[in-house]
Amino acid sequence: MSATARQSAPLPTDIRAMKGAAPIVSLTAYTTPMARMMDAHCDFVLVGDSVGMVLHGMRSTVGVTMEMMVMHGQAVARGLDRAMLVIDMPFGSYEEDPRQAMRNASHLMRETGAAAVKLEGGAHMADTIRFLTARGVPVMAHIGLTPQAVGTLGGYKVQGRGAAAKHLSEDAQAVADAGAFAVVLEKIPAALADRITSEIAIPTIGIGASAGCDGQVLVVDDMLGLFTAFKPKFVKRYAQLGADGEAAIAAYAAEVRARAFPAAEHVFADEAPAKAPGA
Ligand code: KIV
Repeated sequence: MSATARQSAPLPTDIRAMKGAAPIVSLTAYTTPMARMMDAHCDFVLVGDSVGMVLHGMRSTVGVTMEMMVMHGQAVARGLDRAMLVIDMPFGSYEEDPRQAMRNASHLMRETGAAAVKLEGGAHMADTIRFLTARGVPVMAHIGLTPQAVGTLGGYKVQGRGAAAKHLSEDAQAVADAGAFAVVLEKIPAALADRITSEIAIPTIGIGASAGCDGQVLVVDDMLGLFTAFKPKFVKRYAQLGADGEAAIAAYAAEVRARAFPAAEHVFADEAPAKAPGA
């Protein structure tokens, strides 16, 4: 199945132009109903490779494949009318060289209708970002805690403390100079996020960064209280759907065992009820 960009959605250039004008709102989504729920409220929706951990029970994002991203990207696209769709490039789909990145980015955009791709990495990905943007692929960069590199980072630790702050500032500048239209800053000190936001010309999208970033993104299942395996400090739960869902399932199980469900209103009579005249 292929998809084309929706006419009314903002473009990456519109998101870039929001820097300094209005905070940019974003969440992840992996399914059509979730996408529908957030469409009216988000400027862009990210099909994150966090899908591997959130929906597929993986221990990291490293096992996420192109096929998974296409399938979830298509599902999310069906639920969006007005928000822009951004899709993550999964681990191993872009790091080899710019040509591999171009092949896979164009595949993701063609199959899902995403307006842009997101990839992890700073200065070392600048050549690839330049190559993609020169060929019509809008790129959102992602620096700080880059979950695909969890093996080499030694866990999901805060990045950019102390001397490492300078490297992160350089990474931010490098991806902006290479043509990225925005950059995600994940799990870095708030003061550093504020400094990077004031230093670079493209919007910063914070997750575990600072309220001073140009925008924010969260994993939707985290903020709805659906993903409860662990809760990072930077997540605020705006609902407790996981706990509510489990209580509902327990109530259903109890009613089935007590033969209280289904009740009369949930079953069918022998005869169809007569229709009212004119109905
Ligand atoms: O995969 C993901 O969900 C992300 C985030 C920025 C939330 O990359």
